[in-house]
Amino acid sequence: MSTWAILAAAGSGERLGADRPKAFVALGELPLLATSMERLDESDWIDAIVVAAPPGWEEPSILLAEEIGAGKVSAVVPGGATRAESVRLALAEVPDDAVAVLVHDAARPLVGDEVVGRVLTPLAEGWDGVVPALAVADTVKRVDGDLVLETLDRGDLVAVQTPQAFLADTLRRALAGGGDATDCAGLVEAAGGRVRWVEGDPRLLKVTTKADLERVSAWL
Ligand code: CTP
Ligand code: MG
Repeated sequence: MSTWAILAAAGSGERLGADRPKAFVALGELPLLATSMERLDESDWIDAIVVAAPPGWEEPSILLAEEIGAGKVSAVVPGGATRAESVRLALAEVPDDAVAVLVHDAARPLVGDEVVGRVLTPLAEGWDGVVPALAVADTVKRVDGDLVLETLDRGDLVAVQTPQAFLADTLRRALAGGGDATDCAGLVEAAGGRVRWVEGDPRLLKVTTKADLERVSAWL
């Protein structure tokens, strides 16, 4: 029984607009990637980690793992053009005997051990995938350009984060389809998998803009 983590860190960070990929923008004293890497490395739930690094940044990623003593980092692969492709490339490094795979965005540095446990535990109850999610506080409307089309029932909506947990075989099959989605659970759902949600964590805020980076650094 082993659980592998995939750290999706290969994005360019266009909306952040820095002079380097988002994973290597400073958060505190170290690159942003260091925080999630260190937290997953320290988690008793996780046996090994594969990092999908920004293409050309594999070596700095390996050096960073060494610098922070993240001994569970078993492989660093260059990511692909989309998040799904990056996860697919990283999953190729996960051995066949892995039972569960946790997929996490490096852009969400403040991953806690509690939420890792919350998403991994239901896999033993027959779920194909488990996602952390938060209730939606704002009213959500469907729009078309500047026209409001309709108001959705907020009670039926949640905002989904990572880390997301999957049975390894289920994730392999879902990704083999070659599709794209903004999260892995979307591919598992599309492949007919049963995905449940559990309580997320507001501190799992995804660093997208400079304001997000400032907010997360204040929480460090
Ligand atoms: N990601 C990835 N490979 C890609 C694109 C994204 O591994 N080809 C990862 C990012 O590194 C990030 C996570 O997926 O940890 C969520 O993506 P996002 O926040 O959109 O990051 P970027 O794509 O880097 O940012 P932007 O969309 O602003 O360019
Ligand atoms: Mg993106």
